[in-house]
Amino acid sequence: MEKRIDSPARMATPQEKQSQIEYTRKIREMLSGTEPKKACVVTYGCQQNEADSERIAGMLSAMGYEKTLSEKDADIIVVNTCAVRDHAEQKALSITGGYKHLKAKKPSLIIGVCGCMVSKKESAERIKRSYPYIDFTFGTEKLWQMPEILYTVMSEQKRFFCPNEGKPITMEGIPVLRENPYKAWVSIMYGCNNFCTYCIVPYVRGRERSRRPEDILKEIEALVADGCKEITLLGQNVNSYGKEFGGECDFADLLDRICKIEGDFIVRFMTSHPKDASLKLIDTMAANPKVARQFHLPVQSGSDRILKEMNRHYNRETYLSLIRYMREKMPDIAISTDIIVGFPGETDEDFEETLSIVKEARYDMMYSFIYSKRSGTPAAEMENQVPAEVTGKRFPRLIEVQNEISLERNLVWENKTLRVLVDGRSKNNPDKFSGRTDGNKIVLFDADDSMIGKFVNVKISKAQTFALIGEVVAK
Ligand code: 5AD
Ligand code: SF4
Repeated sequence: MEKRIDSPARMATPQEKQSQIEYTRKIREMLSGTEPKKACVVTYGCQQNEADSERIAGMLSAMGYEKTLSEKDADIIVVNTCAVRDHAEQKALSITGGYKHLKAKKPSLIIGVCGCMVSKKESAERIKRSYPYIDFTFGTEKLWQMPEILYTVMSEQKRFFCPNEGKPITMEGIPVLRENPYKAWVSIMYGCNNFCTYCIVPYVRGRERSRRPEDILKEIEALVADGCKEITLLGQNVNSYGKEFGGECDFADLLDRICKIEGDFIVRFMTSHPKDASLKLIDTMAANPKVARQFHLPVQSGSDRILKEMNRHYNRETYLSLIRYMREKMPDIAISTDIIVGFPGETDEDFEETLSIVKEARYDMMYSFIYSKRSGTPAAEMENQVPAEVTGKRFPRLIEVQNEISLERNLVWENKTLRVLVDGRSKNNPDKFSGRTDGNKIVLFDADDSMIGKFVNVKISKAQTFALIGEVVAK
């Protein structure tokens, strides 16, 4: 796959922005006078995709569509896809395949597929060829152009497959329809320059580009003024935020400026690449109580040899020293990680190193994945791909080790009181309400609807591997 390293982003011109507003207005006109039309956005993948989907929903709402969660009721369905692992692609394709029947019943239904999967030329072409009922596709870098794409589909009654080519454009001011009034995603940068050898992201999300600090601060000020209690800053590698501003505002500076916004809110961020996570950032966190005591620091492997093959640019020792520094500065911090099992060439000894770094780091949470071959990435060409029987044995061993540590890390909180942001009724346990601590741990407790979206204090009575249980107390 093409490695596009020479495509720095640029900001959308006022004319480009105005023309998308015009297309939005034209669609609103086309829809007016008919029964209100409904739009359903279906999302797969990471938080960045969730954030993108809220912008897709925002644009559709500005066109006059009402939001629906049911594909069956929809007049337009937009599927926002993921390509990080093969499983995610297969799932999106099979769900999209099911829409054939919906289109047969309602020929006016418009179906679009966007996101990382269709940012790959081959996948977009496959959809064009084999899914004739799909009306349009656009990749992650063309999201801002959705009004124009949709207008072309509607006015010319033709299919439109927008190539993910050219200079990426960052557009401010795209409307957002947020899922949750008191928790918001805020993308601070897009793309990735790291080219970890297993990862498709740099090929589908393009080169790293940061939003201007003033635009981010303005967005967060408005969110906080609207009563938003939790802001999660998003980027593939937030620690390299602001490189294009020549050192004028790095990620720690941005975080510091966000914390100066008045109001009762917390700020989280993800994801941090260990090679770029700085001591300055950790010091800034420690000095700012508004920054949640949570750090997601993907290690991927505990073997220095495999880390090198993965092109990660750190080793066990530098990684563990970062964790030690974090715990020294913020003893209560909850640390989580991502781990890949079965990267090409991973031996039993390499895997033992992964188990040992998990034991040393003592994570609160772990997201583990079996390596998935992504064609076009260097790791896909490596010899010694690890057979499924081997990864199938390693994977549950890793989970067992981490589950024991997760429980131990949660037990520490028994009989202590934690501040929790209340989410609502627990999905798995509808008798209880659920919320999240500063460390992003799930807490279950009795509450009522009036507490949703508020901070409450919960005294923890019982710790489990994946949740804490407690009761709301005055202080
Ligand atoms: N196979 C398995 N896991 C992957 N990840 C990224 N690419 C792959 C792949 N090809 C994991 C990494 C990353 C997380 C978001 O997904 O652990 O941190
Ligand atoms: Fe993928 Fe590595 Fe970039 Fe993360 S830092 S998105 S794992 S290439």
